Amino acid sequence: MSREPTPCGALHLANAGVHEAIDTTLLDVLEAVTALDLPAMRTSWDRFVDLLEAHATYEEEAVFPRYAALPDHPRGGGPELFEADHASLRKVALAAKEALDTISAAGPDSRRVMITQLGPLVRLGNVLEHHTLREERFLYPRLDTTLGAEDIHTLVEGIIETASSRSA
Ligand SMILES: [Fe+2]
Ligand SMILES: [Fe+2]
Repeated sequence: MSREPTPCGALHLANAGVHEAIDTTLLDVLEAVTALDLPAMRTSWDRFVDLLEAHATYEEEAVFPRYAALPDHPRGGGPELFEADHASLRKVALAAKEALDTISAAGPDSRRVMITQLGPLVRLGNVLEHHTLREERFLYPRLDTTLGAEDIHTLVEGIIETASSRSA
């Protein structure tokens, strides 16, 4: 999926801010992993999962149903694809957690084990990027241009709220 200029509505911006926080936290995880800093790895991973799960759950409960109710979804932007992306994210996150557990069990001296376990973590970043692009291309620009001001305000508050209590 290629990057294209996207409209900058309020929902688009709120979602982009949360995804940036999620991306940054995953970078914190990778930084700790490659430094073999096991305590920092666990802390940043917990924060990453917490942020991702809170955001994904809010979207599934409050955002996706409003998008699904709209007519004529474009190719690549069908409502089922967003649900499928979230399922993929959770599956790849589980594989990444298993990799982190393997690194933890090997101890802080096992750089070789760490290197062999990087694959699922890199894959998680790729799946996340793909999902971000889909949301930025189809989901939020459509909602920004079709929902009323009050609905947009409610969703923006919800998106920001689910992230702000977890990103400290
Ligand atoms: Fe999102
Ligand atoms: Fe999402």
